[in-house]
Amino acid sequence: MNQYLKHDEWSIIEEGFNPMNARASESIFSLGNGAMGQRANFEERYSGKSLQGSYVAGVYYPDKTRVGWWKNGYPEYFAKVINSTNWIGINVLVNGEHIDLAECKIDSFTRILNMKEGFLEREFIVEMPSGVKVKVNAKRFLSISSPELGVVRYSVTPLSAKAEISLQPYLDGNVINEDSNYNEKFWDEVEKGFLNNGGYLITQTKKLDYVVGHGMVCNVTLDGQSVIDITDKNQYEKYIGCNYNKIIEIDQTFTITKYVAVISSLNCEKSDIGKSIRDSLNVAISKGYNSLIKDHIEAWADIWVHSDITVEGDVAAQQGIRFNIFQLSQTYTGKDERLNIGPKGFTGEKYGGSTYWDTEAYCLPFYLGTHGQKVARQLLLYRYKHLEKAILNANKLGFKDGAALYPMVTMNGEECHNEWEITFEEIHRNGAIAFAIYNYVRYTGDSTYLTDFGLEVLIAISRFWSQRFTYSESKGKYVMLGVTGPNEYENNVNNNWYTSSIACWCLEYTEQVVKQVKQIEPEKYKKIIELVKFNEIDEIAKWQKVRTNVYLPYDEKYQVFLQQEGYMDKEQILVKDLEPSQRPINQKWSWDRILRSCFIKQADVLQGIYLFEDRFDVETIKRNFEFYESRTVHESSLSPCVHSILASKIGKIEQAYSLYLRTARLDLDDYNKEVHEGLHITSMAGTWMSIVEGFGGMRIQNDMLIFNPHIPKGWNSFSFKIWFRDNLIKVKVTHQEVTIANEQGPFLTVKVWDKPFNVNSSGIIKI
Ligand code: BGC
Repeated sequence: MNQYLKHDEWSIIEEGFNPMNARASESIFSLGNGAMGQRANFEERYSGKSLQGSYVAGVYYPDKTRVGWWKNGYPEYFAKVINSTNWIGINVLVNGEHIDLAECKIDSFTRILNMKEGFLEREFIVEMPSGVKVKVNAKRFLSISSPELGVVRYSVTPLSAKAEISLQPYLDGNVINEDSNYNEKFWDEVEKGFLNNGGYLITQTKKLDYVVGHGMVCNVTLDGQSVIDITDKNQYEKYIGCNYNKIIEIDQTFTITKYVAVISSLNCEKSDIGKSIRDSLNVAISKGYNSLIKDHIEAWADIWVHSDITVEGDVAAQQGIRFNIFQLSQTYTGKDERLNIGPKGFTGEKYGGSTYWDTEAYCLPFYLGTHGQKVARQLLLYRYKHLEKAILNANKLGFKDGAALYPMVTMNGEECHNEWEITFEEIHRNGAIAFAIYNYVRYTGDSTYLTDFGLEVLIAISRFWSQRFTYSESKGKYVMLGVTGPNEYENNVNNNWYTSSIACWCLEYTEQVVKQVKQIEPEKYKKIIELVKFNEIDEIAKWQKVRTNVYLPYDEKYQVFLQQEGYMDKEQILVKDLEPSQRPINQKWSWDRILRSCFIKQADVLQGIYLFEDRFDVETIKRNFEFYESRTVHESSLSPCVHSILASKIGKIEQAYSLYLRTARLDLDDYNKEVHEGLHITSMAGTWMSIVEGFGGMRIQNDMLIFNPHIPKGWNSFSFKIWFRDNLIKVKVTHQEVTIANEQGPFLTVKVWDKPFNVNSSGIIKI
């Protein structure tokens, strides 16, 4: 762990500059607005260790698959989120010397991420090598209300002597990815030019020809008054910049406001990008900084009204949950159904910016609860639109008759992950995609989704499962061979309990949806079955035969569901007996040693128990929790939240609390020693779940919201809000009472501790 950030309810605060934390802070202080995002790189030059990252949503590069031994079925490429034009850059020179925090003497340094209002601010005082002291204030935001705009305001004040200050804003497309095959360059220049007090640069990606244009217009003032004109301009390949030079007296403040527009061919005809940049910049300039930031802050206020969670009495826990909600809300806004949520969002290169099962298994509940039905539906549509490619993908692997295998990792529906044990074997993702449909419908009551889109997806997924099980003569059961469960510290195992269980559930649920759609929309049903050539009688008979006779491993001695066949052959050591110096094992041990050990990377059996909780009594959940929690190292960010929810369920509230802190502050305190690579965006939704479903005990049963709350002993209260079928419900829990307020929406009945209560429109009940 690395705890260097100050605890605060609404802000992330770093005081003092330690270059050892520079990359971690670049991740933690990242900004985004759904359409673009960037790591918290400095505007001015920084020659210390840094990962430059500025990303445009949906723009990627198909990096050629690089493997030692090619296996048939491998995808041709690995998608990469590519670092694009650096648009925040401003070289700042004092008497000809660059301000560079790796070179200058730093007197003071504060960096603040204001999560309430969505901006990043730094203030520091440095002594230049020449001896002059200057104060800098730098503030920037990526507009949530106008997602093509970003604004930087940068001020320099000489403190010890007058100095010639040069502010040199630029757009630089000469950027690289840290992780790239064959040192490939991703961008070519299309066009660049100067604008009045600014310039523009249009670049195009290699291979897929995405075109992205960046334009800047600057406004430079002295003590907020006189406007200074460009002194100089410069340009070279993929670079355009301007200089503003002036002698500045002691205590005078030289300020530049850099307005930037980012337009990509995803949203604009390529030939219109230049014009679109100019139009956006004209609007930005005419509105001005104050009005733009006001709109932006108001848009954030709207987000917080629906999504805030409060924790009284524990600032670290409060800061953690707000940080998670903030990062999720700036990563995905649901405005464009072609986009999704990469595990690192806009904060790093790892995972290629692509979509994983994380979206359905973790993120969907968060967006359903906080951003509403429309946004959540976009996430489902994303997969619906990829159905054809999922069928092709399964076909490539030898499945037939419309069976679909969704990709483990994708940008556009094609598989783009190239480790066979994951690409071919981590097939449980199909289950999460089906479960998300079920979850969405039970939450929203929107069964039109099933008729319009869901049933087609479910049939294709069920066809896959029914073909993927094989019949074992020796067991007299259907078995699932050669899979990787959620626990990636085991590969190529037989009969992973989670995968087989979710597969059976899919077969059962699809059958139920077939009946439902047939009954409520017989005409539409006929069209769907014609379209997908569904032989209802034969196919359902096969599904029933399979799902009622699947081999699900069980351990009689411990009375637990067995993660996979053979798990008990491993030497059984508990995590508490592991030397702290050996952790995280994925950074200390060989892969071979990890595979042979009994240590579990992330919730696996417990993931299944979490999804299908209603099927198990509390004693069963308890036994499985105790067995697996003591063997789980939580080296996937997706793990502690599920364990925390189950710990709450079985009444182990203090254990739930420490697992909560692990998920909520995973990045802030760097539990897994990897925050320098970027944040764990998708698992942040799990943090939300561990409060709402864990401590809040929220469930949906028979169209009704149910709460069984518990409160950790160190908290005075906690509260959360959720959208539920046109109602905005606020739940507040203290040690004495539970308050439910219907802040918006019609009359609603909820259950608290198994008792029904009616909450009128704008009503409040205390229990
Ligand atoms: C986890 C996967 C997850 C991926 C992206 C891996 O470390 O094991 O379950 O999908 O990260 O978050």
